[in-house]
Amino acid sequence: MMRKSTRRIGVLTSGGDAPGLNAVIRAVVKAASGMGWETLGIQDGFEGLLGEKNYRVLTNADVQGLLPRGGTILRTTNKGHFGVRNPNVAPEEDPYVQAVQSIEELGLHGLITIGGEGTQRIALELYKLGAPVIGVPKTIDNDLAGTDRTFGFDTALQVATDAIDRLHTTAASHNRVMVLEVMGRHTGWIALHAGLAGGADVILIPEIPFSIDTVANKIREREERGNTFSIVVVAEGSRAVDGDVMYVSDGRLGGVGQFVGDRLQQLTDKDTRVVVLGHLQRGGSPTPYDRLLSTRYGAAAVSAAAKSIFGEMVALRAQDIITVPLTEATGHLKTVRPHSDLVLCARALGVSFGDE
Ligand code: F6P
Repeated sequence: MMRKSTRRIGVLTSGGDAPGLNAVIRAVVKAASGMGWETLGIQDGFEGLLGEKNYRVLTNADVQGLLPRGGTILRTTNKGHFGVRNPNVAPEEDPYVQAVQSIEELGLHGLITIGGEGTQRIALELYKLGAPVIGVPKTIDNDLAGTDRTFGFDTALQVATDAIDRLHTTAASHNRVMVLEVMGRHTGWIALHAGLAGGADVILIPEIPFSIDTVANKIREREERGNTFSIVVVAEGSRAVDGDVMYVSDGRLGGVGQFVGDRLQQLTDKDTRVVVLGHLQRGGSPTPYDRLLSTRYGAAAVSAAAKSIFGEMVALRAQDIITVPLTEATGHLKTVRPHSDLVLCARALGVSFGDE
């Protein structure tokens, strides 16, 4: 039995929201209070550590009912003032130095940083400056290295798979090609998993650049075999072999679904419609899998703090929750291996990736 002591830990959520954030916060508060510790919820991500500190004490009563609730009660910010650190800037103007000072002033024994690669990169920088950080891997994209799974991914999959199911019935009724653009940034985890789970005919992912002629041929072949409709799932970060990744605006991916739909309509002469699933993949209640994973991550992060394990991130490895150095989780993304068994399985079932 671990001895009880009076300690204070902090928790914050940073980057794009994902279903399960509140479930992690709840688990942190409950596990910490079980050890007699106080939890401070830092609001608006790392921004809450700058200037007038923005935080609130979280009690068990505050986290009641949070397990199924989407979003984050602490709110979140994308990067904010925490761009790539400039070591030449004066300490009083360095947000990283200010954040470390705030962590000390608040008397935090540990700071739990829930977020994706960008968040864990900020956490690592703070750790190098002496802050006791512990990461929790979040993102619907599942692209964070060092862990088998991020929470939020399963819920996004559920939404995307449901969308494919619904598109099937309307596509079949109208003999149409339906193109579904899903999120995932520069990786194809959501497209590949949902595409397979939903029985898509074509799956386009960033890791396998596609030829639009090959995709059109696939649809024609299906037609010749009597399949009068087709479902194409496109990850937002996909690109044609002779094209670039497409953006809707400053750094926001999007547009490839419309491009694919327009070209397929021209090349196959089939009635084609495009659906962009967007933030529906991030909103709402987490699936049971994500609730469980988030809960395990939250409890494991507190347990790491109790053992003074810092500069690490909790992670899922096979059936276990372990910790990995933040350096393992940052600097590169976990991408779909083009020859992985999932891709081979899809090919064996006749799914086209638009490349051969
Ligand atoms: O990283 C999660 C994610 O939803 C990506 O899949 C997507 O590209 C991006 O965030 C969208 O960001 P924003 O919410 O800023 O539009």
